Amino acid sequence: MTDNLNIEEFLSQVHEVGKNFAQRWERFAILVLEPNRPEFVNGLESQWQDDLTTLEKAKTALRDLNEVRAQMLSKKGEIAGLKKMIGRLPQVRRGEAHQALHGLEVHIINPLGNAEDNLQQFVRNLEIERESIDVTIPGRRPRPGHLHPITLMRQRIEDIFVSLGYAVEDDREIETDFYNFDALNIPEGHPARDPQDTFYTTEGFALRSQTSTVQIHAMQRRGAPVRMIAPGRVFRRDTPDPTHNPMFYQVEGLCVDRGITMAHLKGTLAEFVHRLFGPETKTRFRPSYFPFTEPSAEVDYSCFSCGGPGCRICKHSGWIELGGSGMVHPNVLRAANVDTSEFTGFAFGLGIDRTCARIYQLDDIRLLFENDVRFLEQFR
Ligand code: DAH
Repeated sequence: MTDNLNIEEFLSQVHEVGKNFAQRWERFAILVLEPNRPEFVNGLESQWQDDLTTLEKAKTALRDLNEVRAQMLSKKGEIAGLKKMIGRLPQVRRGEAHQALHGLEVHIINPLGNAEDNLQQFVRNLEIERESIDVTIPGRRPRPGHLHPITLMRQRIEDIFVSLGYAVEDDREIETDFYNFDALNIPEGHPARDPQDTFYTTEGFALRSQTSTVQIHAMQRRGAPVRMIAPGRVFRRDTPDPTHNPMFYQVEGLCVDRGITMAHLKGTLAEFVHRLFGPETKTRFRPSYFPFTEPSAEVDYSCFSCGGPGCRICKHSGWIELGGSGMVHPNVLRAANVDTSEFTGFAFGLGIDRTCARIYQLDDIRLLFENDVRFLEQFR
């Protein structure tokens, strides 16, 4: 296979490859200029696809440039092809051939390298520019949240009782029969145990249907005397309607000490409504029945809106229901190991969301649980 190629043919091949390169190089030619020269950017902008950003154009140009390099200089590229042909030349002409080929190689490698360096620098500069932070741009203001109206109401109630010397208790929502019923003087078979009344989980456990369960926990934990309130969620098997929800909030109150009487109960709740609705607010106690108190009373307060004559808010009665109350039944004290010969106490249970709905004149209590920001935003 040697000696079957003459030098003229070889040189004309070299020339061919050179011409070929020159053609492909045309669009890159301007890129050997410094990247901060306007011609560089103009060249890039005009030679590469219109719908690309400048940065994308520069990256595409780099890729195109690599393609040219591969075609010319890779192991299977044009130069390598020419190199292989040298062996077929007569020995004496090979030096000349090497020289010509080297000339072409330099003619390709140098501008390719320059353009590549420039493009890389250009891309780097653009990226740095893009990532830099403009500290003079005004910040995005975070949308501040706020507390839920029930939470606000709960906090107001807590503040009043804490200032009266009550501790705030937080307790479990899943209860045993003992705390939900037995200890609250609701023995097996008592109508208040109706299984329809709450949600049963596994055998012997149920979601508490009232916060009164915390009375027992608090007395067991703290002994007597004790003064505490327990705000929290309670559950009942109710179909939701404008005035009912299967989950709602109560606050329980308990005061056990030596010589506690009904007078203390009345005085405490009177003071509470004075602080919540204003000093002119009156209270009214109506006889009632709860298994865990004896005697028991429903408590009403005079309407905070009309003050007595009757209006839409108090349904034209002049009074609004606050909750249930009474003197703690001795059986309840005994269930929590409190000595009934030494201690007596009073207790009460108020509806937080019900009071909340009254104050804000909500026609539908379910609004409080739907978490619709358009509604909640009104309570900032
Ligand atoms: N637990 C009662 C209820 O859910 C409310 C209640 C009434 C609580 C009288 C008490 C009380 O502590 O003494 O209807």
